[in-house]
Amino acid sequence: MKKFPLQKAFTFIEPGPVVLIGTFDNDNGRFNVMTLSWIMVMDFSPRFALLTGMWNHSCKALLKNKECVISIPTIDISKKVVGIGACSGADTDKFAKFNLTAAKAEQVNAPLIKECLANIECRVVDHIKKHDIFVLDGIQAWFDSARKEKRTFHAVGDGTFITDGPKINHRKLMADKLPAGV
Ligand SMILES: Cc1cc2nc3c(=O)[nH]c(=O)nc-3n(C[C@H](O)[C@H](O)[C@H](O)COP(=O)(O)O)c2cc1C
Repeated sequence: MKKFPLQKAFTFIEPGPVVLIGTFDNDNGRFNVMTLSWIMVMDFSPRFALLTGMWNHSCKALLKNKECVISIPTIDISKKVVGIGACSGADTDKFAKFNLTAAKAEQVNAPLIKECLANIECRVVDHIKKHDIFVLDGIQAWFDSARKEKRTFHAVGDGTFITDGPKINHRKLMADKLPAGV
């Protein structure tokens, strides 16, 4: 994976893909990962908001370490991604169970995931407890340009998923509204 311009990192999230949230689990000294579809872009900075709570083991690590990695999976590993969201790091080593390759991040202790198209290292900058919302600042982005499959997938919420279709380019219609560097 090569470094990716941080100011473009939001383009991985703006289409609303299912993502993986990687954390370092202080309880057992290993990496953990959860599946998540409640995520949004808040700003080009890039800033993101995700929703999770104490019903998930990952939440403890987010609160304690105040960091994570958002990894962007593609459709070829969609079954794996759903499996990751159907068990807990509290009693399962998900990197071993799902054959995920952790790579060292640069700014956080949470891992990059080599099987994903992109990874965004993030710091937790706010936690809105009442709504179980975590606000994250992206601090380093990575992209695997050698990866053939680049289509992400999107949760409908009922166990079905929509996959990326053709891309249409309307940049000329909105160029003045795009941030610099995009
Ligand atoms: C497609 C999919 C989307 C999910 N989205 C979310 C989500 O947005 N927020 C959340 O808290 N849990 C979500 N989950 C559930 C967690 O991934 C699941 O509870 C996971 O096992 C938690 O792992 P952990 O206990 O190791 O943190 C989703 C699961 C799937 C399969």
